[in-house]
Amino acid sequence: MSLACLRDYELRAHSVLPKNALDYYKSGAGEEFSLQLNRDAFNRLRLQPRVLRDVSCRDVSTTVLGCRVTLPVGIAPTAMQRMAHPEGECATARAAGAMGTVFTLSTLSTSSLEQVAAAAPDTLKWFQLYIYKDRKVTQQLVQRAEKAGFKALVLTVDAPVFGIRNADVRNKFSLPPHLALANFTDSTTTHVNQTESGSGINEYVNNLFDQSISWEDVKWLKSITRLPLVLKGILTAEDAIIGANMGAAAIQVSNHGGRQLDGAPAPIEALPEIVRAVGDRCEVYLDGGVRQGTDVFKALALGASMVFLGRPAIWGLAVEGEKGVVDVLTLIKREFNHALALAGCTCIADIKPNMVVHESRYSRL
Ligand code: FNR
Repeated sequence: MSLACLRDYELRAHSVLPKNALDYYKSGAGEEFSLQLNRDAFNRLRLQPRVLRDVSCRDVSTTVLGCRVTLPVGIAPTAMQRMAHPEGECATARAAGAMGTVFTLSTLSTSSLEQVAAAAPDTLKWFQLYIYKDRKVTQQLVQRAEKAGFKALVLTVDAPVFGIRNADVRNKFSLPPHLALANFTDSTTTHVNQTESGSGINEYVNNLFDQSISWEDVKWLKSITRLPLVLKGILTAEDAIIGANMGAAAIQVSNHGGRQLDGAPAPIEALPEIVRAVGDRCEVYLDGGVRQGTDVFKALALGASMVFLGRPAIWGLAVEGEKGVVDVLTLIKREFNHALALAGCTCIADIKPNMVVHESRYSRL
C-alpha cells in the first residue's frame, strides 16, 4: 500500500524499527503529557478560509536567515539516526538538499559533521550544539562546523539534563555497539553505554553536559563564532527577550518534542506570546507536533517563519532512507500548498493571523 501522509510513515516505521530504537525515537518524558499536547494543541485551532480569491498560481517558498528555501519546513536535529538507517544523517541531509530546505545536524549524530558535509555539499546545513563541561569540546565543534560550511549554530537551551523517558529506562537504552557518536574520537564521548540504573543516554548527558550553563554561555558562544545563533527550546516571552537582546538571530520555539519537561506547553501554544515579544527583532521558528500541511499553515499564521520536523524525518529514513525523507517532505509540502489554496492564499505573505482561531470561538455554552 502506498504511503499517503506522515502518519502512514510513522505506522510503517513502527513496524520496521527494532524496539530499542523505536522506543528511543518515539517516546516523550514522564507521562508524555506534553508529547500528546503537541498534537492536541494544533487540533484545538480552527482555520478560517477565505474564498473566491484566484489561487491558480501559488508559491510556498520563503527565506530563512537570508537563504532561499523551497518550503517553510526544515529538518530539526535528532540524535543517532544510523539506528534508523545505515546512511543515517547523511541520507537525511541529502534529502533536505534535494527538497531545497535546511537540515540541522545534532551534536549527538552517528555521522560526523565532516561526513555529512561531504555527503550533502549543496544542502543548507545548520549544526546543533550541546554545551559540554569541557568547553574545549564545544569550541572544537564550533570551529569544525564553520570549516565544514554549516551556516548557523543552533544552541539547544532546554537540556541541562535530559528528560526521564521511561521507555529508555525500561529498555536500559544504549547505542548499538556497531555505532558511535561520530563527532568525537575519545571513548568517553563516543559511546552511549548500557547502565544498570537506567537509560544510557541520560547517563551520558549527566556525565558530560554542563548543568551550569547560563546566558553567560550564550555570550561566550557569540564571542567565538560569527555564525548566526538560533536558540532552540524557548517557551516564554521572557527568555525570548533575553535571547533577542543578546543578539540571537532566531528563536526556535520548542519543547524538544515533549522529551524534556513534561507539563511544558505545546510550542504552538507558546508561539503567539513569543512572536509578540521578539517577532520584530529576530526570526521565530517552531518545532513539535507538526504532522500535516495545515499544521504548517497554523504555525505560520501565528507568526512562525519556519517550522521543523523531528520524528517524521526519522520515520521516513527508517522506511526508505533518503527517498523516505524526500517523500515525507514532499507530502507535507503538497499538503501545505493545498491548505494555502483552500484557505484563499497564493503565498506565505497572504497568510494572516486572523485565519486561525482557537476552538473556543465556536463553542456554545
Ligand atoms: C530530538 N530532539 C533533539 N533536539 C536537539 O536539539 N538535539 C538532539 O540531539 C535531539 N535529538 C532528538 C532525538 C529524537 C529521537 C527526537 C524525537 C527529538 C528534539 C528535536 O530537535 C525536535 O525539537 C522535536 O523532535 C520536534 O518534535 P517532533 O517533530 O518530533 O514532534
